[in-house]
Amino acid sequence: MRKREIKIDYLEYDSRAELPLQDRELLEAAIAAISKAYAPYSGYRVGASVLLDNGKVFSANNQENMAFPSGTCAERAVLFYVHANYPDNTIKAIAISAVTDKFNIREAVSPCGSCRQVIAEYETKQKSPVRLILSAEKTKTIVINGINKLLPFHFEGEELKKH
Ligand code: THU
Repeated sequence: MRKREIKIDYLEYDSRAELPLQDRELLEAAIAAISKAYAPYSGYRVGASVLLDNGKVFSANNQENMAFPSGTCAERAVLFYVHANYPDNTIKAIAISAVTDKFNIREAVSPCGSCRQVIAEYETKQKSPVRLILSAEKTKTIVINGINKLLPFHFEGEELKKH
């Protein structure tokens, strides 16, 4: 028996002004996308933006539905659009931010388990990590290099493609 430990490292920025320009611009695109979020049920409005290796940036937001499970997170809204239209491009980074009138968001918004699994699959497919830039209105900004740090031991079904 062996005791193993997983440690994760990440960068924490007190202010958005400290971020490298490319990260800051992507985060600003995510923040801009919040205004069009459709979140009448939770009031929690999320924006997400993706940077591709061709320099293009795409944004989306959460889309809720009266039949709750039919709605989707901002991350999957933008990732599915990007992969549907640019399947051969590499996703370099995704920025996420959120706003709500209901309470003070104290921590940077971090993708839910389902969105982490989706990011993990695209990382496996493209064989390179996706940089995660996580923030919220008045929080610190966290930058994490790769979903593996947020979803260790994730399901990798590459073999499923071969059988
Ligand atoms: N949501 C996102 O869009 N992204 C996240 O990372 C967390 C949660 C959405 C789903 C739902 O519309 C609302 O936020 C409240 O959970």
